[in-house]
Amino acid sequence: MLALFAATGLAAASIGNAVFAHGNVLPQPVDTTALPDIGEAWLVKNPYRGNATAIKIGESAYGQNCARCHGLEAMSGGIAPDLRYLDVAEVGDEWFIDRYQHGSARDGKVYMPPLGDVLGQKAGWAIRSWLDTKHQD
Ligand code: HEC
Repeated sequence: MLALFAATGLAAASIGNAVFAHGNVLPQPVDTTALPDIGEAWLVKNPYRGNATAIKIGESAYGQNCARCHGLEAMSGGIAPDLRYLDVAEVGDEWFIDRYQHGSARDGKVYMPPLGDVLGQKAGWAIRSWLDTKHQD
């Protein structure tokens, strides 16, 4: 069922943004219990950089929650920015987690939904850790 759902989302993504405008694609919860706790306050620096468990969790979390807009394997099909080009240093961490947490909206239009509250900080940094492994200059 999940796979079918994801495939449908992807097919829709490739023909346009219409499906997302209805807000009917729900975030998939990410199991982060295997990762060290990092507290409630939002950090600006990735606490899991290079952590193999985080990278693995992040890969799957990305596939379930980000790929439909940002592309499979972080290769954007043009709907949303290509996340392989994010700065790998701390300035990139800060930008990444801000977007993840708050999303992006301008002039009353939501470009990316806020995901911080739904998926949690640990999942965000796990995704960032995986993205680091896909980085391109
Ligand atoms: C509904 C589609 C959608 C989903 C789902 C989505 N994003 Fe985005 N994201 C966008 C769009 C569109 C932008 C560009 C926003 C803008 O132009 O202001 C963006 C921007 C970003 C940026 C800033 C990139 C840059 O180069 O400035 C980051 C980081 C990001 N998203 C991370 C994520 C992560 C991580 C996930 C999954 C947890 C995710 N996004 C899920 C659509 C999405």
